Amino acid sequence: MSFDRSVKIAPSILSADFANFGQEIRAIEAEGADWVHVDVMDGHFVPNLTFGPMAVKAFRPHVKTVMDVHLMIAPVDPYIEAYADAGADVLTAHIEAGPHIHRTLQAIRASGMKAGVALNPGTPAEAVAHLLDLTDLICVMTVNPGFGGQKFIDMTGKIMALRQMIGDRPVHIEIDGGVDPTTAPKVRAAGADVLVAGSAVFKGGSVDNPSVYGENIRAIREAANAA
Ligand code: DX5
Ligand code: ZN
Repeated sequence: MSFDRSVKIAPSILSADFANFGQEIRAIEAEGADWVHVDVMDGHFVPNLTFGPMAVKAFRPHVKTVMDVHLMIAPVDPYIEAYADAGADVLTAHIEAGPHIHRTLQAIRASGMKAGVALNPGTPAEAVAHLLDLTDLICVMTVNPGFGGQKFIDMTGKIMALRQMIGDRPVHIEIDGGVDPTTAPKVRAAGADVLVAGSAVFKGGSVDNPSVYGENIRAIREAANAA
């Protein structure tokens, strides 16, 4: 995985057809997705429940780009090896998910993955001030995690503060929640480079009509690049 700050669109397969993940992943990549975002929820850290390491391992052969796994689980540490074995390229843990995020990020890197740290809307940018050299990606949640299709919460000030804190370090800023062609320019202008989008990518399309995914991805990318 090489590093750059160009706009990357990461469709969240939380909005895909749950009976058809392989085809859905191949369709979004063929239609221009840069990364594939996989939302892991445990029914405890967040109120929703999605998929575990066995499912993520089954997705892996279909992903030719980057498999970006967003853990919304607590605890995280007992599962790091399982997601490494499942083939995650980026593994992101929430700072709110446990008392030892520093140790968690070290363990993720030690398992051979890029280490991401996610911040809920109520968590300030300063919470990662001592983690900047231990992380490869900071995920700014622009919804409260747990569900797709929620209303965007403006976190412009937080994104700008993080962009300044990061400086020249090779750390991505990822935005997750409510990203669409209207909100993408705001987060791009503030300093984000990875844009997760679930409903805005999958809406109106299907594996039988995948060109809609392509139109949706292009609309988000063009809006962001125009910022
Ligand atoms: C929310 C998830 C997101 C979600 C985004 O808890 O982390 O990745 O799927 O969905 P949209 O783009 O529909 O807000
Ligand atoms: Zn996510």
